[in-house]
Amino acid sequence: MSVNLYPLIRPILFRMDAENAHKIALQALKWKLVPADHTPHDARLRQSILDMDFSNPVGISAGFDKNAFVIDEAQRLGIGFMEAGSVTPKPQYGNPRPRLFRDPHSRSVINRMGMSNEGMNVFADRYDHFRKHGTTPDAVVGINIAKNKDTKDPAADYLTLIEKFGLTADYLAVNISSPNTPGLRTLQGREILLPLLDALVAKRDQICAGARSTPLFIKLAPDLADDECEDIANVIIESGVDGLVLANTTTDRPESLPQPFRDETGGLSGPHVRNKSTAIIRTFYQLTGGKLPIIGVGGISSGIDAYEKIRSGASLVQLYSALVFEGPALIGKIKHDLAALLARDGFNNIKDAVGVDVE
Ligand SMILES: Cc1cc2nc3c(=O)[nH]c(=O)nc-3n(C[C@H](O)[C@H](O)[C@H](O)COP(=O)(O)O)c2cc1C
Repeated sequence: MSVNLYPLIRPILFRMDAENAHKIALQALKWKLVPADHTPHDARLRQSILDMDFSNPVGISAGFDKNAFVIDEAQRLGIGFMEAGSVTPKPQYGNPRPRLFRDPHSRSVINRMGMSNEGMNVFADRYDHFRKHGTTPDAVVGINIAKNKDTKDPAADYLTLIEKFGLTADYLAVNISSPNTPGLRTLQGREILLPLLDALVAKRDQICAGARSTPLFIKLAPDLADDECEDIANVIIESGVDGLVLANTTTDRPESLPQPFRDETGGLSGPHVRNKSTAIIRTFYQLTGGKLPIIGVGGISSGIDAYEKIRSGASLVQLYSALVFEGPALIGKIKHDLAALLARDGFNNIKDAVGVDVE
């Protein structure tokens, strides 16, 4: 067992501006100052989905490593996969700082980063280097793609990114749900979504002709109404998209959050998004007849939370906010507890538990 130093380091990180603290955390990971996870592998957690082999279902979600800076080093944390990005075609600064806020009491985060990133060329150089020279070149890494804020043609941005990463990513996650890029969430509307997804699937098919068909996942907001979910599910089935990432941050502001944190604009993540995210996972699992793999994300901070998402229809899970408050040792703990919960309930493999709570 490695020693968990995070409780000692956390007070220092929490005295800093949240974005600077994140940069330091990434640098520490880069320099391998973060202890590696040694949780024993459990065969119950291993599964293959859309030709990708996952040693365990616990991943890190988009936004943690927007620029593919630590994709190799992050594998030390014991993750089963990682979703790097969101990456846009051109680099962009994002919103003015400060734009990232933590509330230690509720363990919540609000961000209005505005898709800050170094752009697809820098990302691609690092990603290709990882695949050729990394210490874990076979790790499962998805690439989360998004449009530039100032683009006149959102579809063109996504097509450019599919062209760039369509052959090299393990999977692509199309982000149409960040609340911090004006107009992005309107892409979730049926009239816009169907032609968009048709075009993206066609481009993927063209790029991947004769090679492995890189799965296309769509990442949605947790704030969709039931009728919107129904429309989207129909569009997704019609267009031939392969999977869903559910869900992004919420624009909700529960009364219980303290001021002035509560008044910050942006997307809220952490425990307050957990039930909303689980509910939308159930809805889409039902609407798609359990045929499309779902990556469940939102408010996961324990093995029980992860298990709830899985029983509600998620095949894989991701987390971000809980890592800020609990530190990286949380990943090993979630894997350990999840394996114990599966064993307790008589499941030999995680696949058997997916969606069992959904009628
Ligand atoms: C600081 C921050 C930045 C994020 N950036 C992105 C992003 O670039 N693309 C994206 O699809 N989701 C992004 N997210 C959303 C997360 O991937 C995740 O969907 C959300 O935070 C809910 O999970 P959590 O409660 O475990 O944090 C971001 C979240 C945070 C906290």
